[in-house]
Amino acid sequence: MPGLGGRAGTGILSLFAASAGAKKVYSVEMDRLLVKTLESTANANNLGKIIHVIEGDALQIKLPRKVDVVIAELIDTALIDELQVAVMNRLHRAGVIGSRTRVIPCGYETSVQLVEVGNTYYGYKINAPIHQWPYYSKMQEEWAQIKIEPASEVQQIGMFDFQYGVIDPEVDKVVEFHLANETKFNAVRLSGILRLTANQLFGAGNMINGDKILFVGEHIKSGKVCLKIRYTMSGGFPNLSCKIL
Ligand SMILES: C[S@@+](CC[C@H](N)C(=O)[O-])C[C@H]1O[C@@H](n2cnc3c(N)ncnc32)[C@H](O)[C@@H]1O
Repeated sequence: MPGLGGRAGTGILSLFAASAGAKKVYSVEMDRLLVKTLESTANANNLGKIIHVIEGDALQIKLPRKVDVVIAELIDTALIDELQVAVMNRLHRAGVIGSRTRVIPCGYETSVQLVEVGNTYYGYKINAPIHQWPYYSKMQEEWAQIKIEPASEVQQIGMFDFQYGVIDPEVDKVVEFHLANETKFNAVRLSGILRLTANQLFGAGNMINGDKILFVGEHIKSGKVCLKIRYTMSGGFPNLSCKIL
């Protein structure tokens, strides 16, 4: 059962795959230092004969076709900044993922919500994006606590399936929110749910998929509010545009 333990990093997912019974695991990694440590990690766990480390860019290198399982974790909130979508699309186009290949994680859902965020520090208003990792709220003493109040309902803007074919990487949506009363908001919370399998879902974690808070100016509105959000998945934060119309 050959599997593709993809974007290998520390190698933990490759080790899991080998221990779970894969006959061969191809661990793809482009960072040369990690490639070296992956080989040493595989040997240190007596799995060097099963785990084959492939050094190179997953968007370009030759890879085995129609493997049984692809495990690829290049997940960033809303699939903006890391290469999950670009790599999945390449694996589909190159025939690495065939009709019987199981893909883990198998999909991702992206949502947006209007929020009011306390963004004053040392007397200054700071409008830089916030990467809101869950553990920050547990570090009461060491980390300045940020108040984030929901101002609208949560709206899903996309549901992407890594298993069944190439995904259109363009997100271009106008999202309508309905605010019952006059409501103050200054930011949008982008959040995501990773689908490990069809019924195993994973929200924000401390190392992956934390909420992103993006400032959109100060607003007080009631009734219909339209947000335009546009980006290319795997295109990085500079390509993201998020505006109240
Ligand atoms: C989010 S980390 C995955 C970490 C891994 N799941 C772990 O738990 O250690 C993404 C990894 O993919 C590698 N990577 C990113 N883009 C890549 C590409 N185009 N080709 C191959 N490896 C890539 C990075 O060097 C990094 O080690």
